[in-house]
Amino acid sequence: MSEKKQLGLAVVGCGVVGRMRATLARDFPGIGWIGLSDVNESVGHKLRDDINADFYSNDFRELIARPEVDAVIIATSTWAHVEPTLAAVDQGHMLFIEKPLATDARESAQVLAAIEAAGIDAVVGYTQRFRRRFLVVKQRIENGQIGEFTAATVRAFMNRMAPTGETRLTQDRRFLSPMVVSGTHSLDMSMWLMGEAAKPVSVYARSTEKILTDLGVKDATFGLFQMEDGGMFSMNICWALPKVWPGAVYGLEIGIVGTEGVIDIEDTHRDVILASEHSQGPAYNPEGLNLEAQRNVDFLTSFPPGDVYAGELWGPMREETNNWFQRIYNKKQTPHATAAEGHRNLILTMAMDLSAKEKREIELPITADELMERLEA
Ligand SMILES: NC(=O)c1ccc[n+]([C@@H]2O[C@H](COP(=O)([O-])OP(=O)(O)OC[C@H]3O[C@@H](n4cnc5c(N)ncnc54)[C@H](O)[C@@H]3O)[C@@H](O)[C@H]2O)c1
Repeated sequence: MSEKKQLGLAVVGCGVVGRMRATLARDFPGIGWIGLSDVNESVGHKLRDDINADFYSNDFRELIARPEVDAVIIATSTWAHVEPTLAAVDQGHMLFIEKPLATDARESAQVLAAIEAAGIDAVVGYTQRFRRRFLVVKQRIENGQIGEFTAATVRAFMNRMAPTGETRLTQDRRFLSPMVVSGTHSLDMSMWLMGEAAKPVSVYARSTEKILTDLGVKDATFGLFQMEDGGMFSMNICWALPKVWPGAVYGLEIGIVGTEGVIDIEDTHRDVILASEHSQGPAYNPEGLNLEAQRNVDFLTSFPPGDVYAGELWGPMREETNNWFQRIYNKKQTPHATAAEGHRNLILTMAMDLSAKEKREIELPITADELMERLEA
């Protein structure tokens, strides 16, 4: 039997998500050398020690240029993906990039163009695709069970702990909108489930700003996409629910109607409820986030990456990360979102923000340049 070379992995960003993925990498037999980078040394050093990493630098360029590296995970803060991604593309490394590809559509287009020009295998972290319930739905739709898609609706409710955590490290919140940061997950899910039929030709949206004004972000965005074949898709998100709301992060309801059937998904996590005399604390708890949240009721399994038992992560992020390791090590076909899909998701979420800003319908497709010019006007 021939011995296959183990891969070298660089993880840029050692926060909540970088930690989960790097810890899984340590257990994957096809990954050998692991290098880490974080601008916050204490976060980086802690992860290095916990997983016994082979290398650490607070400069991602030094890490990515190391000869041991074959693949890179970009798990930096939401607005800090572009530079390390481009550095990894320069080196020709396989890539896993956390969503969104960028928070500026022009930069996202630049990243996508660089990835495609270099012929790099790059995927984006749309973790919800790796849940059994959505995979079976996708398979049934592909098998023709609901016929042709005609109408879809998504309602996403989120605890305000997520935007509180997102905004803690940056003052530039112009494009940290509920759709760009979080709605992108359910938008990706819906577009993925609808498949080829989902070709939006326009979007009309509205936003509210009453609750999270202190954080400098919007509360909610509700919108309606019109598809090329006459189908429609409504996508609504509010990420301003109270900190005491029992859902850790997301609660979704998704309905997809076809000419021969319907799929109705209740994903609010109200099926496993814990009520306790003890506070459950915040589910999402990155370094430097201080939340006085007395949550005594918890919708268990509502934290999107998964849950910890006996020190190990169980759930969608484990499936997603291990499946990516199989993709890069065994060259397996996987359901990960491509960089092109990640770019499409950013354009569509920003088009919703543009429609809400201009208070009118936006025709699609729209170029990244036009989108940004009008958003910045
Ligand atoms: N797929 C999911 O379900 C999911 C869930 C949560 C977060 N995310 C995404 O994962 C990413 C990371 O989120 P998180 O929750 O781990 O946040 P976090 O704040 O815990 O971690 C981000 C880390 O990146 C570091 N960083 C920032 N700029 C850097 C740079 N230039 N070089 C090196 N390190 C840098 C920060 O110091 C921080 O430690 C974000 O893009 C977020 O949108 C995805």
